[in-house]
Amino acid sequence: MKSISLTINGETVTGLVEPRTHLADFMRGQLGLTGTHLGCEQGVCGACTVIIDGQPMRSCISYAVACDGATIQTVEGFDDDPELQDLRTAFSANHALQCGFCTPGMLMTARDIVRRLDVPDTTLIRQELSGNLCRCTGYQGIVTAIASVIEQKQKPAVSNGSKPQERPRIVGPKPFSIVSTQETEKAKEVAVSKLTMAVDAEGWTLLNQSMDVPHPQAKAWAFFEDLHQVAACMPGAQIDTIDGNDVQGCMQIKFGPIRASFDGTAERKTDTETKSGSLIGHGADRVSGTAADGGLTYKVAALDAQNSRVSVEVRFKLTGPLAQFGRSGLVKDFAGRMTTQFGTNMARVLSGSSVETGATGNDLNALSLLWSVLTSRIKSLFGK
Ligand code: FES
Ligand code: FES
Repeated sequence: MKSISLTINGETVTGLVEPRTHLADFMRGQLGLTGTHLGCEQGVCGACTVIIDGQPMRSCISYAVACDGATIQTVEGFDDDPELQDLRTAFSANHALQCGFCTPGMLMTARDIVRRLDVPDTTLIRQELSGNLCRCTGYQGIVTAIASVIEQKQKPAVSNGSKPQERPRIVGPKPFSIVSTQETEKAKEVAVSKLTMAVDAEGWTLLNQSMDVPHPQAKAWAFFEDLHQVAACMPGAQIDTIDGNDVQGCMQIKFGPIRASFDGTAERKTDTETKSGSLIGHGADRVSGTAADGGLTYKVAALDAQNSRVSVEVRFKLTGPLAQFGRSGLVKDFAGRMTTQFGTNMARVLSGSSVETGATGNDLNALSLLWSVLTSRIKSLFGK
């Protein structure tokens, strides 16, 4: 057992937990905070979403020990919160709940959306809400309720002449670093092959894909020699230091309220003779306690004097709470779109354009990437 201390809904609480105890179980079992619901307990449905250090996250896959020292807000802790009051009213007015099981998690995510979006764009709201599932409402009422609260906060003054309450603008995390939606003609010429996925006898997941780029082999190979440039083209990747062949950095992934950040190290190997290389290492996400081993190997081959083929194999093994995603079709879809995005970015760089970082367009691009994955998976799940 380990002693932990955290601030929940403004109060300091301490407790003794097993290393494997999840935050949701600790809060519900030891603190009686049963407003946070448990649905799938696998990080999929979003019912258990709470606010951890200002960000909505899954409490069913966050270890309590990893949250030691964190500040947490659950649905019970928002009685004086203007956004949540508005959302509760709007949910009620728009029939945004039926059985109410998803509602605590929905409200946590909805509050985050209301605080970040400036316009009641229902497409964006649906994208942002994609990590929270509701079995009853069909979502329309929920989306309308959130949009109405965003719309309301845009009004300059209320009817009695008093000014609307100041609300802090919170800028959401920008885990992705990808090109804007304005792609060059060259970037559109990238031909990306179908992604293949397999799991070997030792449990390693293998993803293979290739992309043909309209540039000579030497130019495409030179691109891979600059790892900072490669990372800039890969959604979510960041390199902190390069010391010889040792690379330190992180890979951030955002799936609705799930925000995993795998910090780690990797060893780089290159063979200029065969125009191939690899980056193999280990990383870990502190909050969920998930470890990742693996890496990628790549090869640049000449198709002709002006065109080349980049083949990439990603090999990884996840251990811990997020491991259940490692072999799923969801990962395959997501990885396929990531590689496509990477290929587009790479072609853009090779064509002389720069990769934009941190702009709104990047976020939208990342969201549409995730949205397209999630909608296709949900459709296949329900046979639509
Ligand atoms: Fe479903 Fe946590 S209970 S995501
Ligand atoms: Fe029943 Fe959403 S209201 S699951």
